[in-house]
Amino acid sequence: MLLAGGSGSRLWPVSRDDMPKQFQPLTGPLSSYQETCRRVGDRTRFSEPVVVTNETFRFFARRQAEAVGARPKVVLEPARRDSAAAVATAAVLAERQTPGGLVLALAADHVVLDDDLFVAAVDHGADAARDGRIVVFGLQPTEPRTSFGYIDPGAALGATGDVFEVRAFVEKPDRATAMTYVRDGYLWNSGNFLFRSDVMIAEFERFAPEILAAVTAAIDGGEEDLGFLRLHAPSFAAAPAASIDYAVIEKAARIAVVAGRFRWSDIGSWDAIWEVSDKDAAGNAVSGEVHLLDCSGCLVESRGRLATVIGMADTLVVATEDAVMVAPKSAAQQVKRLVEDLKAAG
Ligand code: GDD
Ligand code: MG
Repeated sequence: MLLAGGSGSRLWPVSRDDMPKQFQPLTGPLSSYQETCRRVGDRTRFSEPVVVTNETFRFFARRQAEAVGARPKVVLEPARRDSAAAVATAAVLAERQTPGGLVLALAADHVVLDDDLFVAAVDHGADAARDGRIVVFGLQPTEPRTSFGYIDPGAALGATGDVFEVRAFVEKPDRATAMTYVRDGYLWNSGNFLFRSDVMIAEFERFAPEILAAVTAAIDGGEEDLGFLRLHAPSFAAAPAASIDYAVIEKAARIAVVAGRFRWSDIGSWDAIWEVSDKDAAGNAVSGEVHLLDCSGCLVESRGRLATVIGMADTLVVATEDAVMVAPKSAAQQVKRLVEDLKAAG
């Protein structure tokens, strides 16, 4: 199951409400959505994906998947209700198709550099998931980021050596808390989940019954149209907006973590794009028609026009047909605020 309905506002002006980051080629020729489809493309292991996305993106979701050989079922949300409703929808659909089957829920807006290590991590988590645990994929933190979930790994499970019980899962702690977590050996949550559909449904019954009721009604009242499943709008709109992390994972009792070894980025902001991009000798990452003089550590991306920059260090310059954004790399997180300001100003 691919989660592909987010908006990615920190990557403005490239990521837009009508064309969000997961469908854009940001770090290579394919979008992260297409890379995600390919990552689970081995049909001896994974079935065709179910994509849960917004009505607006339906043709991207269909065509971009087909371009990399996937034939997804595309489920359309009539409104944004965050990731919990999307995961609940996928769990209910999966349970109806194969009761008690395993569901792998993947964020479609991440970069994973080692697909084989990622698939191995999924394999390693499968026993714990069959055993009724919700499996998360943890990564070694490099700094006390407050935009991630944190996982406290406990006793080892199984024979592969990289699967552990979870003592605590804390979503988006404040900075001081995140610092203690990094010191104490917590892992970052990569935002991908493996679970039995009946187990996830039971957790929703317990912790978020309104969301489960709303999405069940939205499926029952939904309509198949040209291969899209369009969820019933009034029913779906009744679901409270919540992320899967806050609504279920923080509260669920039986969680397991696979300590992943794959290189990963959630390409959440322009500094993260810079980190995973190819760079010249001075550490500049450029894309599109760009000419630099005496620059270092910059990210310069231009679409549809020539961008020139002289003498800048650690600076972000992103130019599209209709907007230009310039900021120090250290202000990359503020782009979200900029977008909110722009919306407020009309
Ligand atoms: N279908 C659908 N509908 N998908 C959505 C919606 C929605 O309304 N809202 C968000 N998503 C998708 C996003 O596109 C993304 O792939 C995924 O759900 C997670 O949502 P984000 O909004 O990106 O969450 P986050 O980045 O703040 O936090 C999550 O990811 C972190 C790692 O990147 C959490 O799982 C954290 O614990 C984790 O550390
Ligand atoms: Mg994210």
